[in-house]
Amino acid sequence: MGIRGRFGLLKARDYLQENAPSLPIKKGRLFIGAKRGCPLRTFAIVNQKGGCGKTTTSINLAALYARRGLRTLLIDMDPQAHCAAGLGVPEEQIEKNIGDAMVANHDDSLDKEEYLWEISRNLHLAPSTMMLTALEAPGGALQNMPDRDRRLNSLLRLWGNDFDRCVIDCPPNIGLLTYNALRAATETLIPVETGFFSLRGARKQRKTVDALVARIGKPLPCRIIPSIHRPSPLARTLLQRLQETFGEEVSPTVIRDHETLREAASFGQPVCEFAPGSDAESDFEALVNWLESIHEEEAPIVEVANGTGSRAAELALRVGSQSRQADIIGRIQPKEENDGAKF
Ligand SMILES: Nc1ncnc2c1ncn2[C@@H]1O[C@H](COP(=O)(O)OP(=O)(O)OP(=O)(O)O)[C@@H](O)[C@H]1O
Ligand SMILES: [Mg+2]
Repeated sequence: MGIRGRFGLLKARDYLQENAPSLPIKKGRLFIGAKRGCPLRTFAIVNQKGGCGKTTTSINLAALYARRGLRTLLIDMDPQAHCAAGLGVPEEQIEKNIGDAMVANHDDSLDKEEYLWEISRNLHLAPSTMMLTALEAPGGALQNMPDRDRRLNSLLRLWGNDFDRCVIDCPPNIGLLTYNALRAATETLIPVETGFFSLRGARKQRKTVDALVARIGKPLPCRIIPSIHRPSPLARTLLQRLQETFGEEVSPTVIRDHETLREAASFGQPVCEFAPGSDAESDFEALVNWLESIHEEEAPIVEVANGTGSRAAELALRVGSQSRQADIIGRIQPKEENDGAKF
């Protein structure tokens, strides 16, 4: 069951206390965040075709990233609000949805806690509600804004430093909400059910994304995730055709058809909580492994401010780069294993 919780510096502190127990963090100020200047790695999960596994992929990808210790934001851009349902958040208790955050002022006055639900450690949900439909309708609050197609991007610029990964679940249509998601994304993932019309659907969807990306005017890597794959001869042939047609854009791992995923959703849990060790979990693990392998980036940076003789300060001086800010004396990569100190 989702529990709304405090969010912010306290979380960063919790993260450090658990991950760096040997560091006397009270003595120095420590900041964790996405590397400055790098956009938050953001996946838009899109496909106009309904029921192809967008929400299932969004929830389970986000939950697995969170379990790996990456601070993950799951954004539901679909008025059907299936992410909340799939994570046990009661819709009637959602006071503010992602649409409210999009049309709010994007400055320090915007309080994240009002919009985000803490689902589990490292996993936050920006839920949607049916009200999102009104927002994008003609005359709706979003439609009336001059930067209507960039409001999610603007919001993520504000929240970007608080997260390491962001997953956006899109509705099964291309409207202003999906357009906002694509503008905010750094990558698109298209789940494609390996069913009878899959190849045609995938081609159409790929063209649509291409057209949208051309309008947006920024490169946006696009990947196809074979989903709800059943081990029938037809499904295998269709998978092969997908691979021939889209080559390296197709994920080498497929999400098979698992009853466990349907059960997990009905219990309001991601599969890594509902059925740890299951085949369904391992399919999504493989997907995360692949996504990470094609995007080797530096580990998040811990910036260490001047503190008197702290172990963190000592380490930062030894391994960190000099910062332009006078009060920050160095940066440490949490993966760094200098001196056997693990973050
Ligand atoms: N790999 C899978 N194995 C078994 N069932 C799955 C799998 N992926 C999704 N499902 C089930 O298929 C149904 C549709 O999945 P999901 O809601 O993720 O699709 P969607 O693309 O988000 O749909 P929509 O377009 O309506 O938003 C759900 O009942 C879900 O539990
Ligand atoms: Mg959905």
